[in-house]
Amino acid sequence: MASDNVPLNGEGPALELRDVEVVYERRGRERVRAVAGASLTVERGQIVGLVGESGCGKSSLARASVGLVPAAGGSVLFESREVTPLTRRARPRELARLQMVFQNPYSSLNPRRRIGSQLADALDVLDLAAPRERRARVEELLDLVGLPASAAARYPHQFSGGQRQRIAVARALAADPSVLVLDEPLASLDASAQAQVANLLVDLSRRLSLSLLLISHDLAIVRHVADVVSVMYLGVMVETGPARSLWSLPLHPYTEALIGAVPHPDGSGFLPEALPGEVPDPAHPPAACRFHPRCPYAFDRCSKETPVTLAIESERTVACWLQAGGSPPARPGERPQPLPLLHAEE
Ligand SMILES: Nc1ncnc2c1ncn2[C@@H]1O[C@H](COP(=O)(O)OP(=O)(O)OP(=O)(O)O)[C@@H](O)[C@H]1O
Ligand SMILES: [Mg+2]
Repeated sequence: MASDNVPLNGEGPALELRDVEVVYERRGRERVRAVAGASLTVERGQIVGLVGESGCGKSSLARASVGLVPAAGGSVLFESREVTPLTRRARPRELARLQMVFQNPYSSLNPRRRIGSQLADALDVLDLAAPRERRARVEELLDLVGLPASAAARYPHQFSGGQRQRIAVARALAADPSVLVLDEPLASLDASAQAQVANLLVDLSRRLSLSLLLISHDLAIVRHVADVVSVMYLGVMVETGPARSLWSLPLHPYTEALIGAVPHPDGSGFLPEALPGEVPDPAHPPAACRFHPRCPYAFDRCSKETPVTLAIESERTVACWLQAGGSPPARPGERPQPLPLLHAEE
């Protein structure tokens, strides 16, 4: 039975990030606020996609959300419990159901151990299966990710990239998680393996009521897979909304630019073609709205005041001065065009 101070399982969102900050010290003692007050909610059973250009802080936020880096500010709540930074000691048992999957399955699996042993280890760490049940549970985990029982006797190098990522997912599933944070889980795979693993993730989420925070630079996959999408720019969230409505009507000019983005030829990310300039260095972010130097609609206020995050229509939020609170959303076609910097009179 739950004690008084522990929330009942079933209360609160699966994962809630509130105003999270992640700060690094660069050599030369420069402070980099890689995540500068970002908020995001993953409801139970939901798939939330997180997108944004390279260097905007997605991995830093993912790591903070599972306690791999400390949050310098704000809070991270997993099923209403605070996620504290991991120490060398074992992960607190109640946080075992929050698991992370990384981009490169080859480096996260031990090349010298059979898959079955690696999955059994993951069960043993948490005492999740009695010795005589272990083998059956390993086979069940392999089956969940679409691999035959015979895979248990093989080594990581005997699998394709897509199969290895399935094994990495199976290992995360060994902890019987309720939330998976996946940082670019498809980026190292070829196109057909990407689609298969993406479909597997959706299937697992539905079958196991698993909540997913899926970070991907592949906007087409995020659109296909995610229920809700959050768009990050230089350490902050600029827009969040259901995937379908975000794609049909982007409210933030950055989201609008991303929707028309094209992939980098080397597969390392995407390039919002419509935007001038580079992503600024997070150690020296632009004042007020961090996006204003690249925004085609910027006006005076954008360089003077930090936009507040407004709730617009159902389930959508946007941090942009083009969207006045309480009014219907300003649609891209209704925005000032082109960009002469307006001199707004207060
Ligand atoms: N350990 C670190 N020390 C110092 N700076 C770091 C460290 N890790 C990340 N950064 C900086 O923090 C910023 C955000 O990095 P992060 O890896 O979170 O971005 P990202 O959105 O995941 O990028 P990508 O799409 O390329 O994976 C970048 O400017 C990066 O250089
Ligand atoms: Mg990253």
